[in-house]
Amino acid sequence: MAKTLTVGTVLSAVRGRLPGFEAQALLGAVLQTDRAALLAHPERPLTPEQAERFGALAERLAAGEPLPYLIGRQAFYDRDFFVTPDVLIPRPESELLVEEALAFARLQPNLTLVDVGTGSGALAVVLAAHLPAARVYATDISPAALVVAQRNAERYGARVTLLPGDLLQPLIERGIKVNLLVANLPYIAAGDLPGLAVSRYEPRLALDGGPDGLDLIRRLLLQAPAACLPGARLLLEIGADQGAAALALVRAAFPAAVVDCLRDLAGYDRAIRISRV
Ligand SMILES: C[S@@+](CC[C@H](N)C(=O)[O-])C[C@H]1O[C@@H](n2cnc3c(N)ncnc32)[C@H](O)[C@@H]1O
Repeated sequence: MAKTLTVGTVLSAVRGRLPGFEAQALLGAVLQTDRAALLAHPERPLTPEQAERFGALAERLAAGEPLPYLIGRQAFYDRDFFVTPDVLIPRPESELLVEEALAFARLQPNLTLVDVGTGSGALAVVLAAHLPAARVYATDISPAALVVAQRNAERYGARVTLLPGDLLQPLIERGIKVNLLVANLPYIAAGDLPGLAVSRYEPRLALDGGPDGLDLIRRLLLQAPAACLPGARLLLEIGADQGAAALALVRAAFPAAVVDCLRDLAGYDRAIRISRV
């Protein structure tokens, strides 16, 4: 007689091959339940279809596919985001942009903001949720990413105007000006991409920053004067070793602005903060 497969038996079958937390997240997604319920009821039986689906996903996870794409979600800041391989998986490093943006917003009651290269919409949706009086725009050149962002905005009832197009061009065309700009644009040097695990599954359009990784930021700085109000704050995520190069670019573009490089808790360069004067 075939042995009944249970939560406990399928999780032990992958122990050693998959981190426990990830295996539980995968099984939770298959059974549409949470981790606590799995741990509380290891005797819960699985149907053959559920066991087969878990086995197939576990194989893909073991082969390197990122967990968020397999379960279709990723936590960012204070909520969960729907993700697909059309968007970058939101990273905790980008939460620094949220914190900085919210700190600026406290001083600026009448706020119009844009998230350039919104991907899953993580930055725009979190900011719209925390700043209900702000007008929030988000752009992306990838129509498929905007579909994902739309779904996330709807899920949280966030009022975000999503605009397809190149960087700030959609705002410039409509004559929209902002006093806060956040952007986590692609910043990996093209030559580094083939050696990086991230490039196996995440969209190249979300990663490739051209020869030195700073192409998108360079172009954004050219467009920014046409879309930013006097006194605007710009917050640009950068790579861990790009601080000096990005600061030089920004100082050349905005000689009169106050500019600094923000570091994360590990001491790595993480963002450029520009206060336009
Ligand atoms: C690094 S991902 C960041 C996504 C999201 N903001 C986040 O932090 O998770 C960069 C995003 O910029 C978009 N992008 C790339 N080139 C662009 C361009 N020229 N104009 C607008 N968006 C662009 C990509 O499609 C991608 O969604």
